[in-house]
Amino acid sequence: MRKLVAVMALLMASGSLMADDWRRSADTQTKVDNLVSVMPNTAQLMMSIGERYRDLYWAGKLERWEFAEYQKKELIGIVNRMKTTRPGRAEAADIFLDAGFEGMDAAIEQRDWQRFSTAFENMRAQCMVCHVDSGYGFITIPATPSRSTNLALE
Ligand code: HEC
Repeated sequence: MRKLVAVMALLMASGSLMADDWRRSADTQTKVDNLVSVMPNTAQLMMSIGERYRDLYWAGKLERWEFAEYQKKELIGIVNRMKTTRPGRAEAADIFLDAGFEGMDAAIEQRDWQRFSTAFENMRAQCMVCHVDSGYGFITIPATPSRSTNLALE
């Protein structure tokens, strides 16, 4: 009997724990507020952009041109996502999207490392334009990033 009471108490406790799970029990406004608060911030997105930047460079350097095209698209995708998660940065993001990829498509299409490195350097400069304009000029970007551990580049 005692055991049964204990089991029932446990069940009730776990029931109330479930009730405290905002994903199930909160009102819609609280759910939306919570979801907004956990959207990736600029710093998180920038860590991913940094990896894409590195892999884009090495994809070009190793003449893995399809992979370079893929990395470029993924990088652009992250910048576009930032426009949604951090609308205050949308204007600066658009400036980057307009100016940051000059010559890149042609270089990848023509599989031309010389052109690619010029386009890549232009992109690096545009990353820095936004860092400086946003008050983060101290976050610098290397022109020649070291190799990543991306399996696809081994
Ligand atoms: C729209 C403006 C903007 C653009 C474009 C931009 N950045 Fe950033 N970046 C920032 C800001 C702002 C931060 C500081 C993070 C924060 O405020 O949360 C940052 C931080 C970073 C960081 C440091 C992240 C950390 O937390 O350690 C890296 C690495 C980085 N950016 C790489 C890049 C690269 C590479 C590019 C270009 C391909 C680029 N960024 C383009 C605005 C930008």
